Amino acid sequence: MRALPLLLLVLSAACGPSSSVDEGLGVIQGIDTSENGITAFVRSGQYTSWLAEPSVHETRAPHGSKVRVFFNDVVARSLRDGNATHPVGSILVKELFEDDGKTLRGHALDVKVAEGPGKDTWIFYEGFGPDYTRNYYGRAHSTCHGCHSDGKDFVTSPLP
Ligand code: HEC
Repeated sequence: MRALPLLLLVLSAACGPSSSVDEGLGVIQGIDTSENGITAFVRSGQYTSWLAEPSVHETRAPHGSKVRVFFNDVVARSLRDGNATHPVGSILVKELFEDDGKTLRGHALDVKVAEGPGKDTWIFYEGFGPDYTRNYYGRAHSTCHGCHSDGKDFVTSPLP
C-alpha cells in the first residue's frame, strides 16, 4: 500500500497553515491576485514607485494609527478623470505604521477585478508582519466594504 503516504501528504498540504485563499482571478496588472500573490507583492515593496501621498499621516479610520496610500497609474488616471467607477486593474496600497510613523506593521491593498459598480468588483486585502499569516482577503470582503462604500467606487483617499 504505497499510495497512502502520498495521499496523506497531498491532503495535509491542502489543509495545512500554508494554504492560501484564491478568488481565481489570475494576474491583474502584473499582480497575482491570490492571497499569497498579494502578500508577496506588498512585501516586495514594488508599489513604492507609484504615485504616493507626500507623507505618512494619521488615519481617518477609527482603528490603526499612521498610514500612507499609494495609487497605481490606472486608478490615478481614473481619479483624475473623475470617473464614477474605476477600471479593472485599479490598485491602491495603504502602508500601516506603528504610532512612531516609521515602523511598518502591514499593508492593505484593494484591486479592481471587474468593471462596473458594487463591492463584488474589488478584492480587499489586509495583512500584518512579520508573517502575514492571518490576512483579510476576499472579493467584497465583509470587514472592508462597509466603510469603503462612503468613497467613490470604494476608494476613500483623494489623489495627492
Ligand atoms: C472603520 C472604517 C474602515 C474599515 C472597516 C476599513 N477601512 Fe480601509 N480605509 C478607511 C479610511 C478612512 C481610509 C483612508 C485612509 C486613512 O485615513 O486611513 C481607508 C483607506 C484604505 C485603502 C487606501 C485606498 C482608499 O480607499 O483610500 C485601502 C487599500 C484600504 N483602506 C483597505 C481596506 C481593507 C482591505 C479593509 C478590510 C480589511 C479596510 N480597508 C477596512 C476606513 C476603513
